[in-house]
Amino acid sequence: MSPRCRSRLRISFIILFGFASYTFHHRLTSWIVSPGFVERPLTYFDFPEGEEMHYATEIERDIAMVKPPTPAPVPLPLHCQSYECGVGKWIPRKEPFTSIQDVQTTYSNLWHPVWDGCGVWDPLGKFEEEEKKKLEGQRLVDTLNWEWIPDRGKLLEYDPVDFVVRMLKSPGGLVLVGDSISRQHWHAIYYTFRHLNITFDSNPKHLPLAGVANVEQFVLSRASAMTKILQEKSGVPQSRMERPFFTLLEDHMGLGEIDIKAITNAKSNYNWDHKFRRVEGWEDHLKWLAMPREGEENSVTEDTLVMINAGAHWSRHELAMLRASTDKQEQFLLENTYSRMIDLVTSRLSPIERISIYYRSTSPGHPQCEDHSTPYKDMTDARRQEQNLVQRLKETVSTTDDKKQRSRWDWDLFKPHNEMWNRTIQTMNERRPADSKDAKWHYFDVWDVSIQRPDAHLDPGKDCLHWCLPTIFDDWTRLFYHRVNLDEGRVK
Ligand SMILES: *[C@@H]1O[C@H](CO)[C@@H](O)[C@H](O)[C@H]1NC(C)=O
Ligand SMILES: *[C@@H]1O[C@H](CO)[C@@H](O)[C@H](O)[C@H]1NC(C)=O
Repeated sequence: MSPRCRSRLRISFIILFGFASYTFHHRLTSWIVSPGFVERPLTYFDFPEGEEMHYATEIERDIAMVKPPTPAPVPLPLHCQSYECGVGKWIPRKEPFTSIQDVQTTYSNLWHPVWDGCGVWDPLGKFEEEEKKKLEGQRLVDTLNWEWIPDRGKLLEYDPVDFVVRMLKSPGGLVLVGDSISRQHWHAIYYTFRHLNITFDSNPKHLPLAGVANVEQFVLSRASAMTKILQEKSGVPQSRMERPFFTLLEDHMGLGEIDIKAITNAKSNYNWDHKFRRVEGWEDHLKWLAMPREGEENSVTEDTLVMINAGAHWSRHELAMLRASTDKQEQFLLENTYSRMIDLVTSRLSPIERISIYYRSTSPGHPQCEDHSTPYKDMTDARRQEQNLVQRLKETVSTTDDKKQRSRWDWDLFKPHNEMWNRTIQTMNERRPADSKDAKWHYFDVWDVSIQRPDAHLDPGKDCLHWCLPTIFDDWTRLFYHRVNLDEGRVK
């Protein structure tokens, strides 16, 4: 072929290709902008999975033609709604972290040591110090390289500045109440603030409960440039800036010894040996935090947010007074106690005005989590593989006593306990008069998100209950941020 002939051929090809792509694009555009596309819910476009496509026969077409027209479906919102956001699966992160240095740049922090790794399982102690550090770093990279995708709808991007502004707009900000897992979550949350140079002082002396054990109260630092921006954005007076925007009340059971003895029917002389952490009178402190202040009526207009959990400690292991002749009977006693605890906690908090309380569900433990290096494929996979929980937990130890102790951790009751909270909250909301000033209750579910992550625990082989920081806590935070924005009507 002569060079001229070749170039003519090339030109004809370009013209032909250009025409073809124009036609295709034109058709695609007109299809997308057609009302049918806009109005139909997303699911309409899902391919039926594993099913043969079904083509209508003549008769079916005839029948279809005489059917009355169905009303156009209401378009689904863009964002996932309430419970929907916590239903989904983990997929590989679209832009994966390539190294621990990469993670540390993304999570950089001038005030605290940067995240440097998650525990690795080394039963024979064969790793050298340096090698271990490297493996721990890589494990953090691996656990962070997954993204939570709801089955339906989009999740908001988490915006820490906007979140803190929201906290300032309420008298008491955000308050976390719960056990060591809530403390872990609190840690991950404040880290996201520090990353943006949001600076604060912990437990300044002018606050009630300053210096009390198990209480962390954060007040924005006066001198910081970021504080000025946050105050401007929220439009609140200086008096609000002097009070906490973020508080942790580490109270493992939600109740004190006297209450717990009463609801377990323990004898008054029963000598209970326990070490759980507690903040005596935390409910009153919440009331103090949530109280509206004079001079702040126009700008501090939102509810104080509370995220509470009372989970893992409500086991027979902690409540040694619960005794019966079989495991089943003992667990029945525990269920009864748990239900009485819910009644007590809700009856104490409900009369507090201007608070929104989110009960955060208890996240699962995964026996033998050291066997996992990736999330489960989806919820079906998780359910199938997480059967026989107690049996598998017992297999991790050898003596009869240890096995008995493992079964008394009652990890199998986390889910039924969560369901009790969910039901109670549904019932309270159904009975709540529209003009009620009482606390608003919400059920904030992290079960599905967490049970699909057997690979993300703190210390595989040793601790398969707590989670490696920041991993899934950051996803809980994002879900919570999304949920609050939805519930308060800022997004639809
Ligand atoms: C935080 O402050 C440091 C030091 O002044 C600065 O280099 C960094 O860019 C700041 N980060 C953000 C997110 O503003
Ligand atoms: C909580 O209760 C609601 C209403 O009964 C139900 O639709 C939802 O599935 C429940 N959530 C969980 C996680 O059990």
